[in-house]
Amino acid sequence: DATGLKPSVVGDARGVSDLDRSRLRPRLLKAHQAIRTAHERGELGFIDCPQKDPESILSWAAKKRAEGFREQVVIGIGGSSLGSRALYEALAEDPHAGEGSADGLRTHFTENIDPVGVARLFDRLDLSKTLFIVVTKSGSTVETMSKFWLAFDRVCSELGEDKARAHFVAITGPKNDGLRALADHYGFDSFEVPTNVGGRFSVLTPVGLVPLALAGIDIRGLLAGAKRARECAALPDFEHNTLLQITADIFTLYERGVDQIVMMSYSDQLLPIADWFRQLWAESLGKAKDRGGNSVHVGMTPIKALGVIDQHSQVQLYMEGPNDKLMVFLEVASFGRELKVPTRPGLPASLAHLAGLDFGDILDAELQGTRRALQEAGRPTSTWRFDGVQADDLGSFIFAWEFITALMGELFDIDAFDQPGVELGKKLAHGLLGREGFEQWAKLAQSNADA
Ligand code: PA5
Repeated sequence: DATGLKPSVVGDARGVSDLDRSRLRPRLLKAHQAIRTAHERGELGFIDCPQKDPESILSWAAKKRAEGFREQVVIGIGGSSLGSRALYEALAEDPHAGEGSADGLRTHFTENIDPVGVARLFDRLDLSKTLFIVVTKSGSTVETMSKFWLAFDRVCSELGEDKARAHFVAITGPKNDGLRALADHYGFDSFEVPTNVGGRFSVLTPVGLVPLALAGIDIRGLLAGAKRARECAALPDFEHNTLLQITADIFTLYERGVDQIVMMSYSDQLLPIADWFRQLWAESLGKAKDRGGNSVHVGMTPIKALGVIDQHSQVQLYMEGPNDKLMVFLEVASFGRELKVPTRPGLPASLAHLAGLDFGDILDAELQGTRRALQEAGRPTSTWRFDGVQADDLGSFIFAWEFITALMGELFDIDAFDQPGVELGKKLAHGLLGREGFEQWAKLAQSNADA
């Protein structure tokens, strides 16, 4: 199929039949139309991302690397970081080892504001060779801007303000009085996050493409894969549009009480993509809606798991606990690396069959065993197969799930692109941190704290 992936939902007692799928067909077609209409109105800019030409970003990145930088620190959080981190960890040669080079910068991501983690990272950087990529669409996220200011202060102190400018790149909205204003003031190189692309849908904009290009990742391949999934997403008929079918399957399961979705990667490299997915799914679809004065709460809790590690930790629950989870397996056909159990004599008879086996084949057998066992137990499963861990397939995967999320939003009849539930906590924190105009929130936070 056009996504280059062959996902299927399989199950027994609670699986999805062709009949279920066709029952939802009219609703899916309506949802598809609603997305098309919104896109024609200029909304849902994520749909345009695969069409964008990456060449200007690639040539800018090559020029920047030629200036002698060897490391980059991506400062961002949520949608401004999770996607680029996942793709870097999946696609970089060896993401946590070695020194960067003129072909690809060694990349660090800092998301949290924990002083220990931040200090550890900042203290070991060679600032003269480090580029800071500051990513915040709003331009004002507290965690991101605090760390940007720390980095700027350190680089200015070490190299002087004039030289420091070249060490900072801003990726932010076209207009804001935070990072955009500072980038203009200091003359940083900068890129725009399009206003019609939401944070968690923005990995295929400069938010992801700029740091990935600097790291030497194949962003052309990423976009080519995304473009294939986009073509699949655009197909108007249900029978050929895999993404409409997958969404119908997921929604059918949801209506039957499956309200958790476990993304279980059988590849270390792909595990961080489950973090990206968790945010996309949770923040987009976990919503309260008002129905005649009553709040109705919708959403499916996304969970990440790693095979085989979680076979020894979570699978007991998945097998025999409540039947409320859809398992989404990430399977890799070829790891591109052979590693064998030595044939050296000495293994006891009960383990002798292991001699000479490839680690990738062991992992695969573990996946097949676990999946089959879950199916035997009547648990719904779905598998996304990757030929290898490569940019093209990941581009398809990303666009596919962005589109499925948008469709699910329509089926839930909610706005998948806002996040009102995180606003109150932010206001209270701003109040506690002494931001002007937020005194009432400080009071509320304080009263709660005292209670
Ligand atoms: O999806 C979203 O909009 C959020 O998760 C944001 O990405 C996150 O809050 C970071 O926001 P910003 O890019 O404005 O710093």
